[in-house]
Amino acid sequence: MNILKEIEGRKSIRNFKPDSIEKEKIDRILEAARRAPSAKNRQQWRFIVIEDREIRERIKNAAYGQEYIVQAPIAIAACTTNIEYRMPNGQLSYPIDISFAVSFMILQAVHEGLGTCCVTTYDEQVVKEILTVPHAMRVVMLVVLGYTDEIVEQITRKPLDRIVSYNHW
Ligand SMILES: Cc1cc2nc3c(=O)[nH]c(=O)nc-3n(C[C@H](O)[C@H](O)[C@H](O)COP(=O)(O)O)c2cc1C
Repeated sequence: MNILKEIEGRKSIRNFKPDSIEKEKIDRILEAARRAPSAKNRQQWRFIVIEDREIRERIKNAAYGQEYIVQAPIAIAACTTNIEYRMPNGQLSYPIDISFAVSFMILQAVHEGLGTCCVTTYDEQVVKEILTVPHAMRVVMLVVLGYTDEIVEQITRKPLDRIVSYNHW
């Protein structure tokens, strides 16, 4: 198992083919999210798979016109069911839990030959209304998925020696 292959084969895709995604692939992507770790294993998340084009059209408008939201065949809204729980270190659990779930999801998507883009640029209140998300819960991130012709050339990252140190800051 070499997970770096999937990691290195991922970049944000904003150009999708209209081809639909096989149900088994979507199921495996959701299974990857389900398997993700969460603080105290609380799993306080809910994933709304948005296949309906009309709904994605409305979400695109709530996302300031980002076209690939309708170009791709599917978007998944990664939501939290608890916005208050804090971990012993005082930090909110849900942004971290959802990030893990989405990370697992997008790597499985690469493994399935799909492109993805995470989206947080949207009017959350409007997206919540469109997806009938209860008041006390949040749409933390959208993940757009689909097939693409784009060649994956990863954008640069800071070198390890600028972001890693050993034993002290
Ligand atoms: C939390 C988060 C939010 C993001 N929101 C958006 C977004 O609203 N629209 C967009 O086009 N890309 C969005 N992205 C994609 C980032 O711009 C992209 O991951 C970053 O530039 C690095 O590029 P790469 O994913 O190709 O490596 C988001 C990514 C993350 C992790």
